[in-house]
Amino acid sequence: MSKSVLITGANKSIGYETARRLGEAGYRVWLGARDAARGQAAAEALSALGHDVRFLQLAVDDDASVQAAADRVTREDGKLDALINNAAIPGSYAEPINETLADIRHVYDVNVFGPIAVTKAFLPLLQAAGSANVVNVSSGLGSLSLMADQSYLFYGANLLGYNSSKAALNGVTISLAKALAPLGIRVNSANPGYVKTDFNGHRGHRSVEEAAEIIVRLATAGADGPTGGFFDDEGVLAW
Ligand SMILES: NC(=O)c1ccc[n+]([C@@H]2O[C@H](COP(=O)([O-])OP(=O)(O)OC[C@H]3O[C@@H](n4cnc5c(N)ncnc54)[C@H](OP(=O)(O)O)[C@@H]3O)[C@@H](O)[C@H]2O)c1
Repeated sequence: MSKSVLITGANKSIGYETARRLGEAGYRVWLGARDAARGQAAAEALSALGHDVRFLQLAVDDDASVQAAADRVTREDGKLDALINNAAIPGSYAEPINETLADIRHVYDVNVFGPIAVTKAFLPLLQAAGSANVVNVSSGLGSLSLMADQSYLFYGANLLGYNSSKAALNGVTISLAKALAPLGIRVNSANPGYVKTDFNGHRGHRSVEEAAEIIVRLATAGADGPTGGFFDDEGVLAW
């Protein structure tokens, strides 16, 4: 039986490239997307390359959608070898004092509670795989150490909701890594770097191919792979 992976927010950008890479590596890919037309089109494009890719409707901030997605994978596969919590939103890009509480709550719903909800719903499937990886796609902007360091290249990128949501996601990584280690499930955070995508109006300087590298590496790690860590493609990052 081939290995399987679920990637949330995989209809475009970093998630899509990660899906392509894992499809190429022989994984069955559950391509998560909140929008059926966009998700279906992306899955068809990857299937046309000869990969085993299935569109899975999944809005990470909608509990019913998350549960329906887990139910479908349970019925059709019965296990999941890797989960990549990739879907996220930047929020309004307003100055911290102008970012509304409603916007910040929405950012947390997608970027923090979404990955928690998806991981919990798919836990029985990850456990059934015997050995599994969860990759939380975080950001350098979620590193408290880097964001407090005036010499950090992105020190001035001060997004209240987004940055703190990724710091919270890193906390989720540490907590779940400890809780799930006895079940053979590794949990890590990945920083893809500043990537040219719709997320930032294509201002990033890295390609989606470069961004996918660390995500793929963590998602495909074996039982001797790391857990409870924060990595980019050059190594370990400070929390
Ligand atoms: N780009 C960067 O420079 C950068 C840097 C550091 C970290 N990251 C992280 O990398 C990940 C991917 O970013 P990206 O640049 O590829 O972003 P992107 O181009 O904006 O793509 C985001 C994906 O998430 C999906 N999504 C948004 N809200 C969702 C929801 N509620 N439920 C399910 N899916 C949802 C989007 O779906 P729709 O197409 O339907 O909107 C899209 O597929 C994110 O976690 C981001 O925080 C990005």
